[in-house]
Amino acid sequence: MTDVSSMGSPADDSLPVLTDRQGHPIHDNQNQRTVGARGPATLENYHFLEKISHFDRERIPERIVHARGVTAFGYFEAYGAWGDEPIDRYTRAKLFQERGKRTDVALRFSTVIGGRDSSEAARDPRGFAVKFYTEDGNWDLVGNNLGVFFIRDAMKFPDVIHSLKPDPVSHEQKPARIFDFMSQTPESMHMLVNLFSPRGIPADYRHMQGFGVNTYKWVNAEGTTLLVKYHWMPEQGVRSMTEQDAANVQAGELGHATKDLYEAIRRGDFPQWELRVQMMEDGEHPELDFDPLDDTKTWPEQDFPPRPVGRLVLDRTVDNYFAENEQIAFGTGVLVDGLDFSDDKMLVGRTFSYSDTQRYRVGPNYLQLPVNQAKSAEVRTNQRDGFMAFDNRAANENPEVNYEPSITGGLREDRYPPHDEQGPQLQGRLTRKRIPRTNDYAQAGQRYLLMEDWERDDLVHNFVDLISQCERPVQERMVWHFLLVENDLGLRVGEGLGIAAADVAHLEPLADQTLTEEDRTRLGRLG
Ligand code: HEM
Repeated sequence: MTDVSSMGSPADDSLPVLTDRQGHPIHDNQNQRTVGARGPATLENYHFLEKISHFDRERIPERIVHARGVTAFGYFEAYGAWGDEPIDRYTRAKLFQERGKRTDVALRFSTVIGGRDSSEAARDPRGFAVKFYTEDGNWDLVGNNLGVFFIRDAMKFPDVIHSLKPDPVSHEQKPARIFDFMSQTPESMHMLVNLFSPRGIPADYRHMQGFGVNTYKWVNAEGTTLLVKYHWMPEQGVRSMTEQDAANVQAGELGHATKDLYEAIRRGDFPQWELRVQMMEDGEHPELDFDPLDDTKTWPEQDFPPRPVGRLVLDRTVDNYFAENEQIAFGTGVLVDGLDFSDDKMLVGRTFSYSDTQRYRVGPNYLQLPVNQAKSAEVRTNQRDGFMAFDNRAANENPEVNYEPSITGGLREDRYPPHDEQGPQLQGRLTRKRIPRTNDYAQAGQRYLLMEDWERDDLVHNFVDLISQCERPVQERMVWHFLLVENDLGLRVGEGLGIAAADVAHLEPLADQTLTEEDRTRLGRLG
């Protein structure tokens, strides 16, 4: 808290003088220039026009998703090994190699659907986006708190978000639109069972997990690749809210989670998360009942144990909300050597989308902004100019050589590239197809069975409350899906909506839907 008792009055001569952005001292910040005290204003009011026109442009477009968020800074500390097993067997990424090695990080937490000033107690997935400022350049791990997602092909992202966002006509968020879309999207069931349970409203940002969700790869010095999934486990534990808890919180405060995070950091109670990695040999894994590149699935922990690789500590709040929270820009394409993409069909779409939106939302030179710069690595590029370019340092001794190759001295390629040929060989015809192993219901059902009684009650209550606001055919299709997820869930939601299993027995599977043997057996029992 600033001590106001020692401050001067506005008239105190020791205070610094206000200027405009050209450095001109301002001698009157109260009155426009006019003809006479009451008279018309003049048009050459430079200070006034600058002040108002800059104010008119204070906002940049908010993020199309994840608009409400909060950023904090800290460090990631590597463990370097699991017991006796050094990590370089699996990845050559430098930030993981030595025990105790620290890398600066920025972490932005967010909600997804609401606008920039919306409630942080909303039922919504939470974003968990980490920027590692490594010596090899930046690495962004852009995840969420629920571990899975609604859809598995980036083609459907605008549709799922449109269904969740307010109605384009009246700007009301409508369960009828949300479940209309979800009822035609069976792969969303796993996410829905998570989102409408208490996990869908984390108590705050400190008490929630984070997950990379999409499948990535690790690469070692020999070029051997592994499929990996990332998990962030909070040292603080996991806490959630019921609908009623959330209503009470947001009645008094829309930004309770930002407040909680910043108050903890300010009192020195620095939140921590452990980063754990699940691994799988790179390949299709036909022995599994799910596709390892499907982001609507988790990998069973008993078969793929999450291994701890380091911990992240947040110990600093932002100095400027706009510069460091609004303008920070994450993306799934931002990887360093030793980490790689998988062919997950969401990941490729995301990787285009993030930098594309940031060129629009922040500007083409968003990577020159301090919070986005690769501050632990040197940046030398031949990319120049564009709106708001301010980094005028020459990238080399010969500033006029902004092309490559050149014999007159400019930038050259790295002479010692890492292993660039890696991973299994792929073959296939160009096509537009769903992945063959969709298995949309099994993991959603397992998740339902793992819940405690009160969580299941809350889930059923939330589904009934919202789906009762939908058209009857949508209600029936949702009950049909839930019966395939887990009989008990379908029966209970059906009871709340006045729909018996026999009422939906006539429904055919959706067009292009693949059912497993178990799904068919369950369907057979409906009549
Ligand atoms: C933000 C696109 C899926 C996590 C965003 C933004 C876009 C976007 C355009 C706004 C970025 C900005 O303005 O800076 C997409 C697309 C997806 C997808 C096209 C699917 C194809 C996902 C998934 C996750 C996720 C599966 C979770 C694993 C996030 C997070 C942010 C974000 C955490 C906020 C980043 C920040 O705090 O600035 N996404 N997204 N997104 N997305 Fe996605």
